[in-house]
Amino acid sequence: MKKKGSTVFLAEDIKKVVSIPVFGNGRIIEPKFAEEIISSNKVDAVALARPLFADPEFPKKAMDGEDKKIIKCVACNKCMDLIMKMGKGAICSQWKKRDKAQKSRKGEKNA
Ligand SMILES: Cc1cc2nc3c(=O)[nH]c(=O)nc-3n(C[C@H](O)[C@H](O)[C@H](O)COP(=O)(O)O)c2cc1C
Ligand code: SF4
Repeated sequence: MKKKGSTVFLAEDIKKVVSIPVFGNGRIIEPKFAEEIISSNKVDAVALARPLFADPEFPKKAMDGEDKKIIKCVACNKCMDLIMKMGKGAICSQWKKRDKAQKSRKGEKNA
């Protein structure tokens, strides 16, 4: 699941034979890519799992045109390993970047 849009081709095939909305999924880490596969009618919408876990503000930043501020999932799969192999709660290897960005935002507000 490291390839961009890794399972979108499956959703695309499903969309051809059903009449309900079909979501594309699998390493959709850029809003532009999401727009691309929706506007080309490959899928009706996208579902984000790890990208939202890495940065829950992904949709807001995309809506605000702040794509560059999105903390991207790097597909390291630490989250999945913790849950599925070790039976622990998931954390994301990229949260440090988010914490850093949040701290600098708070610093800007207090300045
Ligand atoms: C922590 C975690 C738990 C997941 N649990 C499930 C699950 O229970 N069932 C399932 O079908 N997919 C599960 N997935 C897979 C996601 O739904 C998704 O298909 C996959 O992560 C690829 O998409 P993404 O690049 O948006 O993460 C899980 C993914 C993660 C990261
Ligand atoms: S732990 Fe790795 S794979 Fe999981 S959401 Fe964070 S960057 Fe993505």
